Amino acid sequence: MERRALRKRTERQARRWQKKLERFRREERQIRAEASDILESHNFKRMKEYIQHGDVTVNAHVLSVARCSIALSEYLHIRCSRRELIRGALLHDYFLYDWHIPDEENPHKLHGFYHPGTALRNASREYRLTVREADIIRRHMWPLTVVPPGCREAWIVTAADKWCSLLETLYIYRGHGRVLARLKNY
Ligand SMILES: [Fe+2]
Ligand SMILES: [Fe+2]
Repeated sequence: MERRALRKRTERQARRWQKKLERFRREERQIRAEASDILESHNFKRMKEYIQHGDVTVNAHVLSVARCSIALSEYLHIRCSRRELIRGALLHDYFLYDWHIPDEENPHKLHGFYHPGTALRNASREYRLTVREADIIRRHMWPLTVVPPGCREAWIVTAADKWCSLLETLYIYRGHGRVLARLKNY
């Protein structure tokens, strides 16, 4: 009797994991379809060298935020531009430095306030941003940056960013950044 109950529970868990995996693959396909140029770019790959929260790199963080934004818009049935949502999410932290390590030019003490501006400057140098994409990048730190998001896409990314950041800070989302730090020490 107990065995059967255990088998049922294991089957239920397996089905849940299967669903999660399918959703993950679907979101990955959408991201690739809308932003392969960003994913393949040198600077986007460089974001693997910088830690964002916990042991998660900036690269892994923005990919999580993009997936979470897609999930949120689907779950809440929010009509929005999927392409701009994904591209804005991928570029929202495009500041291209490690904010934990102060450098001579900038001690990064006010990183939280200034990095949306830096990300926007970097992103507009490399990509032709739409008004919505720019709004996502500029406003994603709200309420820290006083002006609130001006479109649905920016609201979704702002919420997804907070959620992912919390899970990363609490080490609920695991990254490969710890391995990276260990390699650097050798
Ligand atoms: Fe940010
Ligand atoms: Fe972020």
